[in-house]
Amino acid sequence: MKIALSILTLDFSNVENKFKDLASKVDYIHMDIMDAEFVPNISFGYGIVGNLRKLTDKPFDTHLMMMHPQNYIKQFAAAGSQYITFHVEADCDVLSTIKLIKENNVKAGISIKPKTSVEEIEKYLPYVDMVLVMSVEPGFGGQKFMPSAIEKVKKLNELKKANGYNYLINIDGGINGDTAPSIADYVDLAVSGSYICNADNPDERIEILKKL
Ligand code: DX5
Ligand code: ZN
Repeated sequence: MKIALSILTLDFSNVENKFKDLASKVDYIHMDIMDAEFVPNISFGYGIVGNLRKLTDKPFDTHLMMMHPQNYIKQFAAAGSQYITFHVEADCDVLSTIKLIKENNVKAGISIKPKTSVEEIEKYLPYVDMVLVMSVEPGFGGQKFMPSAIEKVKKLNELKKANGYNYLINIDGGINGDTAPSIADYVDLAVSGSYICNADNPDERIEILKKL
C-alpha cells in the first residue's frame, strides 16, 4: 500500500527538517485545504503549498475541503499539486470542475463524505484519476476510523476492475496500524496524518503501513 502523508497535524516549528525527513519516506504528500465553510475549520492555503513544494519532489495530493473549489484550482495547480481532489458535495458543477483541473495539467480526483454513497458518483468514475473515500467527517485530524468506508473502497475496486477505469483509490481519516489492514487490499494508497506525525518513532509506523 502506498502512503500519502497528511501534514495537517504536523508541528510546524522546525518544519523544514521534519517535513523533508518524513516526505523522503512516503509516496505522496496529502495537503488538507479547509475554508471554514465546507468544514468547520481552517488549515492553510496555496502559499504554504508552494513553499513546501521547494522542499520535496514527492507528488502533492491536494484535498480541497472547500465549498467553491472551482475558484481555487488555478492557484493550487500553480503551487505544484500533481492531484487536486474536491468534494462532490461542494457547491460546484462536478464535470466542469474535473475539466478545469485537467486543463491546468493536474490529475483530477473526487471525494465523498461518510454519508455519500459510491452509487452517487458512479457517473463520474470514467473521468477521474483518483477517488478519495472519507473514513471520518472531514475537518479535523485525529478522528476515529468509520468502518462504513470499507464497503465503499471494496465497491470502487470492483467497479474499477469491471470497467477498466484508471482512478487510484484513496482513503482518508483514522488510518493506523489497526485500521489499515481492513482496507489495504482494496486501495492504491491511504492517507495517514496523526498516526505518523504524532509518533515518537514515525519511521516505524510508516513501515507498518507500507508493508500492508
Ligand atoms: C480530515 C483530513 C484528513 C486528516 C487525516 O479532514 O482530510 O486528511 O488530516 O488525519 P488522521 O490520519 O489523523 O485521521
Ligand atoms: Zn484529507
